[in-house]
Amino acid sequence: MLPYGRQWIDEEDIAAVVEVLRSDWLTTGPKVAEFERSFAETVDAKEAIAVSNGTAALHAAMYALGIGPGDEVIVPPMTFAASANCILYQGGTPVFADVDAKTLLIDPNQVESKITCCTKAIIAVDYAGQPCDYDALTDIASAHNIHLVDDACHALGGYYKNKPVGSLADLNTFSLHPVKHITSGEGGVITTDDSAFAEKMRMFRSHGITLDHRQRDISGSWFYEMIDLGYNYRLTDFQCALAMNQLKKLSGWVKRRQEIAKRYNVAFSGMPEITSLTVRKDVSHAYHLYVIRLNPEKIHTDRATIFNALRADGIGVNVHYIPVHLHPFYQQKLGTKRGMCPVAEKAYEEIISISIFPMMNDNDVNDVINAVKKVIRAFS
Ligand SMILES: Cc1ncc(COP(=O)(O)O)c(C=O)c1O
Repeated sequence: MLPYGRQWIDEEDIAAVVEVLRSDWLTTGPKVAEFERSFAETVDAKEAIAVSNGTAALHAAMYALGIGPGDEVIVPPMTFAASANCILYQGGTPVFADVDAKTLLIDPNQVESKITCCTKAIIAVDYAGQPCDYDALTDIASAHNIHLVDDACHALGGYYKNKPVGSLADLNTFSLHPVKHITSGEGGVITTDDSAFAEKMRMFRSHGITLDHRQRDISGSWFYEMIDLGYNYRLTDFQCALAMNQLKKLSGWVKRRQEIAKRYNVAFSGMPEITSLTVRKDVSHAYHLYVIRLNPEKIHTDRATIFNALRADGIGVNVHYIPVHLHPFYQQKLGTKRGMCPVAEKAYEEIISISIFPMMNDNDVNDVINAVKKVIRAFS
């Protein structure tokens, strides 16, 4: 089965990890700071903070912004649950703003309509790897004096108006899960230009303690203080060694993802039964996902049948995402319900993510194209 996404680990990656395993530091050591510097440089941000996963990165971002009970944070429903869960971790309230029908990115008009006196932040999600409309979102955030967060877990290596993803919002969060652009197994990063936010998040990832054990070791002192409630969200030195080596390959891998997407765009352009999501002219799409949308007027079956037929043909398709506000937890706990975000709800019934990852060769790409054409034609 060809998966929808997959890591690429080479001998150099393995050697980088082994080198750290033979060194003195397994958890927070020199590779963490080195990786943070390289990552910040790559995305043109002043600071990068490495954490244990993308969810921890979102949690740290909500903490840095001081989100708490009574605060509302606007988030799109077409995303992984973690984008909204992080608001709940801090006691805040997620408010869902619907997405644009063509891109499935958060719709700035919907965001504007959800702002109240309790709104403290907007979390934009660069769904599938396409950066959101940051000019519009930044204008809304500044006009209402609230913060903008980019959940950029899909979009490392993408650009908006020639500015790299990671430099577009006050806080930008990334995941280093194996299906993402680069991996450390599990891992996450937050980038920011604000050194006060960075300091808060470094403390937050290590129990709310002022100095980590390496800093104490270097200073020769036992003294530290816990000044706020934090967590253990640290990333290990050997994971950072892996991520740093992977980072060297990022631009080539994004280019390969874009090549594959181009092949799909061309192959599916003459098929009225499916549409690819619209890509705006002012972005460079990082293609974490390639999403096709079924046209229910041209296909005489449901999405599940197409999904199962593609899987039976060896294509490990997936669906991204069940809109967050429709999950039972959200419906029961927050009273969200069907009808609140009709654009995302309709899209959810029609979308399928097909395979896209840099290690795919041209034969793999052909296999996906042929399977999609065969299955769609069988039901149209
Ligand atoms: C949009 C989005 N945000 C957050 C996350 C959470 O990242 P992680 O799995 O590293 O915790 C993911 C992971 O799939 C994601 O896709």
